[in-house]
Amino acid sequence: MIPPFSLVIFGATGDLTQKKLIPSLFKLFLDKKLPSEFVIIGFSRRPIAKEEFYILIQSVIKRKKSYNEVIWREFTKHVVYIQGEFENREAYGKIKEYLNKANTMLYLATPPKYYETILDNIAASGLAQKTQKGWTRILIEKPFGKDLQTAVMLDSKLDTLFKEEQIYRIDHYLGKETVQNIIAFRFANGIFDPVWNNNYLDHVQITLSEKEGVENRGAFYDGVGALRDVTQNHLMQLVAMIAMESPRSFSSQGVREARSKAISVVRCISEDEVSNNVVRGQYEGYKTEKNVSANSQTETFVALKLFVDTERFKRVPFYIRSGKGMKEDVVEISLVFKQVCHILFKEVGCPEEGNILTMRIQPNEGIRLIFIAKEPGHEMKLSAINMAFTYESEFKSKEVVDAYERVLEDAFMGDQMLFNRSDELVSSWRFITEILKGWEKGQSKLLIYPKGSAGPKEADDLIKRDRRKWV
Ligand code: BG6
Repeated sequence: MIPPFSLVIFGATGDLTQKKLIPSLFKLFLDKKLPSEFVIIGFSRRPIAKEEFYILIQSVIKRKKSYNEVIWREFTKHVVYIQGEFENREAYGKIKEYLNKANTMLYLATPPKYYETILDNIAASGLAQKTQKGWTRILIEKPFGKDLQTAVMLDSKLDTLFKEEQIYRIDHYLGKETVQNIIAFRFANGIFDPVWNNNYLDHVQITLSEKEGVENRGAFYDGVGALRDVTQNHLMQLVAMIAMESPRSFSSQGVREARSKAISVVRCISEDEVSNNVVRGQYEGYKTEKNVSANSQTETFVALKLFVDTERFKRVPFYIRSGKGMKEDVVEISLVFKQVCHILFKEVGCPEEGNILTMRIQPNEGIRLIFIAKEPGHEMKLSAINMAFTYESEFKSKEVVDAYERVLEDAFMGDQMLFNRSDELVSSWRFITEILKGWEKGQSKLLIYPKGSAGPKEADDLIKRDRRKWV
């Protein structure tokens, strides 16, 4: 059971709080997972009354099936709002008045440019100090820095205020049910890990594609872009989940160590190789989005080819891509196995596509294995067919828990397994920063792609050059 807590959300009127944090906290409350003693302290710059704040944070929840007005009113009894500028030290004093005596969770859900100021003021106002009775923890949202140097700086600042066991660096992709299932699928079944290596694997593909554009997040997104927004974190974590060796134990330490080792051996693409290995795009119309600069050079699409330097993945390329304004909402990982046409079938011919194992992260969460079968009939004719599992059909009565719900619950319980360790971030930023340097030198031209498409054609060329194609 989650112990009593005070949760301070910096950036309480922002998009993340409305769309993810409050809905997840409310769901935990509905499911009776929150303790009787808790307080959520929203802290933001917007000068609004408490009632207006409630209306604001209610808007997303109200549209959900699980919404219940009576329970919502109960919930809001635990919620307070403090208006204050992040720079204004005195405002932090007000937070203290509401803290209960037990445990304190500080949540940085603001644009990253405020992190340093907020951390300074948290320190100056004594909020970082451990209470005698309980713990103090800090949850920090991505993007964690904007390149290697700023990430390291931010980390050392955190380090002066908190111990590693108090720091929870969020990457909500690690909280996704389907991402956690990668470990179960690979290691709990005896038949997959033995082929999870370069003897059998041809390559790996990871796609994170979103139909929506930047919507009302232009002010945040412009200048950040797809490389920092989702590649440095979500995609790199997915690479780690596939590339890692077996954790020593299914513990926070074991799993974090295995992820970290995998990311640390992702081979950096040197600045002058960037244009050959990285495709950078922007959807048509992006420059006219709200709060986006009219001559913005921010990428909304990235595709790249990388290698993980382990014996297991030697010469097995990973092709990864992410984009907004795409034709589909889909996040999936495909392990494409080597396709050799067996001598028995040389004459009748084999299908071009052989064995592909696809893990669908979302939506329609599940796993699909493409394999070859004989078509019914007198003749021996082979074709590639699907064997599929979906969470919906197999686990009917069990809902897939939302990632934010999961990571919040874990943070309250003190489980750091699904949170980034400092060295994971340093390694992924090292990789990403080399690409950024290449871009600064003019490598990878910004390519415009039609909204609702599969991204620039050059992303197809990237993989076609190696005589492969996107699944
Ligand atoms: C966030 C990014 O971290 O992840 C967003 O900032 C992106 O730009 C989102 O849309 C995707 O998350 P999910 O859970 O909707 O796949």
